[in-house]
Amino acid sequence: MAVAARRGPGPRGAAVWEAVMLLLCSGAPTGRPYNVDTESALLYAGPRDTLFGYSVVLHSHGAKRWLVVGAPTANWLSNTSVVKPGAIYRCKIGKNPARTCEQLQLGSPFGDPCGKTCLEERDNQWLGVTLSRQPGENGSIVTCGHRWKNIFYIRTESKLPTGVCYGMPSDLRTELSKRIAPCYQGSIGAYRARTE
Ligand SMILES: *[C@@H]1O[C@H](CO)[C@@H](O)[C@H](O)[C@H]1NC(C)=O
Ligand SMILES: *[C@@H]1O[C@H](CO)[C@@H](O)[C@H](O)[C@H]1NC(C)=O
Repeated sequence: MAVAARRGPGPRGAAVWEAVMLLLCSGAPTGRPYNVDTESALLYAGPRDTLFGYSVVLHSHGAKRWLVVGAPTANWLSNTSVVKPGAIYRCKIGKNPARTCEQLQLGSPFGDPCGKTCLEERDNQWLGVTLSRQPGENGSIVTCGHRWKNIFYIRTESKLPTGVCYGMPSDLRTELSKRIAPCYQGSIGAYRARTE
């Protein structure tokens, strides 16, 4: 008798269990379902073999809307001698029936001075591997290339892969972009004095 009573939950046990379930369902933080609209999707295509779409952010500036897309193995239109430096593209949303995208040039095609004990190697730097946008209205955009290298010490067979990032204003004017290389440990003071 006693053994049989312990085996099953019994009607009272079931009621307690139901109450616990009810508490869990009403008290636990609720997830919100949403649907991905697959029928009216906007498709943007990029050049082949560029990993176009590796990173993506939605962007707006004033009334303009953009899709900003990273393509970390793209070649540059401005200097084809650099081997697959990677690039980002902007694709206008709305009034763009052909769904075209435009490459944005970050970094000078001629090369940039990067410091007193620095010589840049932009080949295969994977620019556009990451993209982020500051939240809110007219947020700026940052993109990085983690494989950018300082080859100043190449004679001692050292390449310093410290990476590089570029920040740009929300109007996407690349001429106002800023090069950010926080991992470079050179004569930063001397470099500033020379360039400013
Ligand atoms: C965002 O940019 C638009 C277009 O330049 C400008 O009219 C607006 O004032 C800006 N908003 C803010 C919060 O800066
Ligand atoms: C293109 O880039 C290469 C490699 O960085 C550089 O040596 C060359 O001077 C650049 N060419 C032009 C036209 O800027």
